[in-house]
Amino acid sequence: MKKIIIASTAIALIFAACKSTKQTTTVAPAAALDCSSNKNLTYNTDIKTIIQTNCSKCHNTNNKAGYNFLTLESVKKAASNGQLLGTIKHSKGFPKMPAFAAKMDQATIDKIECWINNGMKE
Ligand code: HEC
Repeated sequence: MKKIIIASTAIALIFAACKSTKQTTTVAPAAALDCSSNKNLTYNTDIKTIIQTNCSKCHNTNNKAGYNFLTLESVKKAASNGQLLGTIKHSKGFPKMPAFAAKMDQATIDKIECWINNGMKE
């Protein structure tokens, strides 16, 4: 009887060990951003005002941090190298923008992301 208990304990431990090593840490993929209500955004109609209101008082002809967001070219540069979304989403490794102000609301951030995803139309 004692042997059976020891044996079954051992088997249980082996199973437990196997189970723990087999455990995979699968990270659920981030849900793709739904841009169905944000189709056909253009810079001049949808994005320019957001950027100029929230960003251009610092990022202007002074080229703060290398960006003059009064120009579409500069906005596209930050959008293309990932810094635009990184900063406004407050992602790890980026300075939080707009600096010294609250994070922009999610709808606004989504709008900018959708504009980028849709090819940064002018
Ligand atoms: C109050 C001034 C101020 C405002 C408003 C502001 N920024 Fe900045 N921004 C800065 C300063 C200062 C830096 C550089 C210092 C730093 O890295 O924190 C910077 C850096 C950046 C950078 C470079 C990040 C990097 O990784 O080097 C980006 C991109 C940026 N800002 C985007 C934005 C956007 C987009 C907005 C508007 C949503 C914005 N900023 C609003 C002051 C500002």
